Formats: sequence, structure tokens, C-alpha cells
Amino acid sequence: MVKQMEERHSIWLRIFHWTNMIAITLLVLTGFYIHAPESFRLFSNMDTPRMLHFAMAYVLVFGVIGRVYYAIVAKDAKNVLFNPIPDIKNLPSMMKYYLFLSDSHPDYGKYNPGQKMMYTGWLVMAICMIITGFILYNPNLFMGLGGSLGGLIAVRVIHYIINWLFVLSVLAHVYLDVSEGIPVLLSMFTGKIPKGFHDSAHTHDKSIGA
Ligand code: HEM
Repeated sequence: MVKQMEERHSIWLRIFHWTNMIAITLLVLTGFYIHAPESFRLFSNMDTPRMLHFAMAYVLVFGVIGRVYYAIVAKDAKNVLFNPIPDIKNLPSMMKYYLFLSDSHPDYGKYNPGQKMMYTGWLVMAICMIITGFILYNPNLFMGLGGSLGGLIAVRVIHYIINWLFVLSVLAHVYLDVSEGIPVLLSMFTGKIPKGFHDSAHTHDKSIGA
């Protein structure tokens, strides 16, 4: 039987997802090399990774601006932004479900409160990386801002800590998406998901909608 598909991610949403993913992955890899070239031997000299880091910095700036603009014009901000009042109230039922203490959870909308927390966190983290990154890139131009954040060493430490937050949260994101099932993974490529897939995803028994 041919499965009926429904639209989940628009083309613009997918474009921003993949450009941001490529930019962040390359920023992390080149960032680790810049931090510790002797231990992280991915490149043979400092020129290529530094050039790539700065090029990807601009891609990230455009990716973040584009995604925020899209969230506003496509009215998709409510799907992705953590909204403290309903989302904190929904956290316990979500935790119970993910800890296998409950077999089902209520319908949270497009994303659950944990996902919204992560996506909102990424926006804040990306903005912090852009600010600290441009201070490191041109310390003379942003001397006042760098000073108010505690000086260049502090700025570098902030930049490095958030780098690790990106690494850990992206790993969690990939694990959670893969564990939700292949259709969820494919939907970020094709934009479509089998009709009713997320209704069955409210319970641990995926066979209902498969
Ligand atoms: C998700 C985004 C980003 C990640 C994961 C990331 C990661 C890193 C890491 C790990 C380092 C090494 C820090 C250290 O040695 O202590 C670094 C250095 C640096 N980053 Fe980023 N970064 C990001 C975004 C940016 C942006 C947007 C800029 C803006 C231009 C930027 C500019 C720099 C500069 C100038 C350095 C120092 C390079 C050098 O000393 O040669 N970064 N980054």
C-alpha cells in the first residue's frame, strides 16, 4: 500500500537547516584545530582552517538571520521557540515518556518542549558565538565590547565553552532524531512524512502508524 505523505518542513526551512548544520560542523572542526593543532591533526597548517572558520562564520550569520526572518514571516516562531508557561508545564509528561515511565504523551504541536528548549538555546548560543567570534576576529574594532565581557581571554574561554555545548547538544539532537525513526530523518531531506506518523509517535508503539 502506498503511504500517504504530508508536508512537514518547507523548502526554506530545510535550506536553513542544512546550511546552518554545515556551517556549525565546519566551525567546530576548524575551531578544534585552531584551539589545539598539535592534538587535533585534521589540517596540516593554520591557513586553511582559519580561512574556513571565517568563511563559515559569515555563512552562520546569514543562516541565523535567514532562519529568524523565516520564523517571523512564515509564522513558525511559535513552533520552535520555548514558551515558558505551557512548555514548563509540559516538561514532566515529556520526561516520563522519554524515561519510559509512561507509554504515551500529549500532543505538544510540531516539537516537544525539550526540542523547543534546544532550538531556542541554539539561537542564543549562535548569537553568543557570532558576538565573541567577531570580537576575537577584530579585537581593536570591538575593544569596548571585549572589555565589558572580561577581556580577550574571557571572550576566548566563552567561545570555547559554547563550542563544547554545540558539540554535546548536536550529538543529543542526532541521537534523538535517529531514535524517533527513519521517516523523521528523511523528512529533513524530502520535507514530507507519512500521514499520522506523529500521532503514533505519541506512544512508544511505533507499529501503529508505520
Ligand atoms: C557555532 C559557531 C562556532 C564555533 C563552534 C566556533 C568554535 C571555535 C573554537 C573551538 C575556537 C578555538 C578557541 C580557542 O582556541 O580557545 C575558535 C576560534 C575562533 N573563532 Fe570561532 N566558532 C564559531 C563561530 C565563530 C564566528 C561566528 C566567528 C566570527 C568571525 C568566529 C571567529 C573565531 C576567531 C577569530 C577565533 C580565533 C582564531 C585564531 O586565533 O586564529 N567563530 N572558534
